[in-house]
Amino acid sequence: MNILLIGSGGREHALAWKIAGSPLVTKLWCTPGNAGIAQEAECVPLDVTDHAAVIAFCKTNAVDLVVVGPEVPLAAGIVDDLAAAGIKAFGPSKAAAQLEGSKGFTKDLCRANNIPTAAYERFNDPAAAKAYIRAQGAPIVIKADGLAAGKGVVVAMTLDEALAAIDMMFEGGFGGAGAQVVVEEFMQGEEASFFALCDGEHALALATAQDHKRVFDGDKGPNTGGMGAYSPAPVMTDEMCRRTMDEIIHPTLRAMAAKGMPFRGVLFAGLMITAQGPKLIEYNVRFGDPECQVLMLRMMSDIVPALLAAIDGQLKNFDLRWFPDPALTVVMAAKGYPGDYAKGTRIDGLDEAAKVEGVEIFHAGTASKDGHIVANGGRVLNVTASGKTVAEAQRRAYEAVDRIKWLDGFCRRDIGWQAVKREKATR
Ligand code: AMP
Ligand code: GLY
Repeated sequence: MNILLIGSGGREHALAWKIAGSPLVTKLWCTPGNAGIAQEAECVPLDVTDHAAVIAFCKTNAVDLVVVGPEVPLAAGIVDDLAAAGIKAFGPSKAAAQLEGSKGFTKDLCRANNIPTAAYERFNDPAAAKAYIRAQGAPIVIKADGLAAGKGVVVAMTLDEALAAIDMMFEGGFGGAGAQVVVEEFMQGEEASFFALCDGEHALALATAQDHKRVFDGDKGPNTGGMGAYSPAPVMTDEMCRRTMDEIIHPTLRAMAAKGMPFRGVLFAGLMITAQGPKLIEYNVRFGDPECQVLMLRMMSDIVPALLAAIDGQLKNFDLRWFPDPALTVVMAAKGYPGDYAKGTRIDGLDEAAKVEGVEIFHAGTASKDGHIVANGGRVLNVTASGKTVAEAQRRAYEAVDRIKWLDGFCRRDIGWQAVKREKATR
């Protein structure tokens, strides 16, 4: 098969690595790709917003399958246009991608279908939002309605913070994404990332993960796209996974099918595991980044037949096998991220780092320049390792991190702390 992968992050490097390992693949392209993906695939500079150009590339090169990594092309309807041109594409339609593209859409769907989530109201106007916040009190959570790269959320611990967040969003702090705001109940519990492969009707649960959204050790500082992750998430016991499928994933698939927007692709539920059980924080319509990196390391089965089964509505009798060993990934980011950072700084030592047992290094924002790897984004490398325990995977990942020479980079030093603490307690 000829496959085209769309994206340029660590998630796409992990997908490229896994797809390239499939005996079904003859040729793999990636657009735009990065310096790491270039080791697995031929990177081509297509304009992904120009769907006709992507279709023309697929026709010229006899592409059998397009795999879409990020949410932006999905929300722009690339899968609809590829399908209309007779090209198989993995990912949801534009209509189904609203589960991520509009928080209000998802909240309304939850309310109509009794899917457990935080109580909420939607607002177009700051005065009404503030009146509601004063009536509810703090802590309270304020969210921009549209896509904001995982950064459009303020968890306000005080009333003043909440009111300031309303002003910031309506004044355009998140651009167009903040023209509508969702105000919701603060939920207490442990977070987990839950992934289900969906074919419009059936869902297959994938491995679970936990990520670290805050930029600094101890889960401090501003939210980022994710600074590290590990799989499995110990809080997701078999019982919690079963409840998540029964109470959240299946009702969502039924509701989307009933609306005439069947969901095909990866449904990624951000969960809060509360005293009452799993509650939905938000949906994403793609693999998590960096969660995908640990999932790909743990997936034993070939991924390509699974992607095809999701597109073809054949997941009912499908299964995937996973390595039992946990995996952990540490994100190395450019100094300044998630704020301003420099590009073009040189990175050395990657080959030495990759020699550590159990380690795979996935590139995110990297480029090749004069025979060197240079930083080309905020999140730059994902140093990923498996081990018999999370503690062992963590030790291996940081041993590799310490071999990487990049003066302008930083990472958290405590990725996996919750799981390691649990392992110590049960030993
Ligand atoms: P989101 O972009 O919706 O995933 O939110 C980003 C982060 O904000 C989540 O990972 C949670 O840590 C936090 N968060 C979002 N909604 C809530 C909520 N209702 N209660 C508590 N924390 C929340
Ligand atoms: N790591 C969270 C996300 O991909 O949105």
